[in-house]
Amino acid sequence: MVDQAAKLREMTEKLNGKEGATYSNAQFSNIIAISSGKGGVGKTNIVTNLSYALTKLGKKVVIFDADFGLANIDILLGISPKYTLKDVLSGEKEISDILVKMPNGVTIIPGSQGAEEIANLDVTDRKRSLKQCLKLRESADYLLIDTSAGIHRSVIDMVMAAGRLVVVTTPEPTSITDAYSLIKIVVKNQPKKDIALLVNNVRSSQEAKDIYENMNKILIKFLGRSIDYFGFMLYDNIVTNAVRKQKPFFDTAPNSHAAKCIETIARKLIGDTPEKVPGSSTMYGFFKRLLGVR
Ligand SMILES: Nc1ncnc2c1ncn2[C@@H]1O[C@H](COP(=O)(O)OP(=O)(O)OP(=O)(O)O)[C@@H](O)[C@H]1O
Ligand SMILES: [Mg+2]
Repeated sequence: MVDQAAKLREMTEKLNGKEGATYSNAQFSNIIAISSGKGGVGKTNIVTNLSYALTKLGKKVVIFDADFGLANIDILLGISPKYTLKDVLSGEKEISDILVKMPNGVTIIPGSQGAEEIANLDVTDRKRSLKQCLKLRESADYLLIDTSAGIHRSVIDMVMAAGRLVVVTTPEPTSITDAYSLIKIVVKNQPKKDIALLVNNVRSSQEAKDIYENMNKILIKFLGRSIDYFGFMLYDNIVTNAVRKQKPFFDTAPNSHAAKCIETIARKLIGDTPEKVPGSSTMYGFFKRLLGVR
């Protein structure tokens, strides 16, 4: 644990030192990592459906499937990408070769195979991998990163390279405690990180607000800072049905409670994102920051 903390500090210093001068979190506010302490809290469903909602509202969205456990985005969208980030890291493909474009315009970077390896790449491999990303000079309004759950080094690296972190929790006490642990480790490494809480599986908006407010009280007491409120998603059977059908509920059940919650989150997100932040929409910039090379 001490070793992991030291490595993280070193990485942060690199990001906040030389790199930080070029890339502040604010500049990357449209590059959002969606993470959680505990698994199975709804991250992949939120990322997938939020991407559809933002697209419907006229935004260009790229999803980076960075969950090195299982490729769940693929399952939720019923796709099977031919190549993954692993092929980019091994030098066999350029990143533009692995992109999957959905009919509605959402683009997927299949990274569940490869995301974990980034943390272990040496400088030469990082530089070579970055070259493979050069074609990503195209821009998007939002890059949504679906990470694995927990505080694995690869997850923290992903979170640190993103401009914003959205932590997903459910009302379950274990999920809330694990969300706190994730926030704590991120704040230790990037004290001013833009962090927001999304509460999923609630029965009412009030239940979500209460969880958010209680979390903030604890954060202020123990970490000396608060986080933002990103929104809530009601418990809705439509989510499970959509997973079974492998089609986003935002598409198949746009009037469901879950879809309405996602739409509210999308509208708020658009309202919160600065109109134009120089460099912020460059996907290449994100990978440059993630790979930690100039
Ligand atoms: N709002 C909701 N209402 C009802 N069921 C939900 C809701 N959100 C998520 N679920 C259920 O929880 C399951 C897990 O969701 P999901 O795969 O999105 O979580 P995850 O956080 O990405 O999990 P992992 O950590 O394993 O990647 C879904 O298959 C779905 O059945
Ligand atoms: Mg998932």
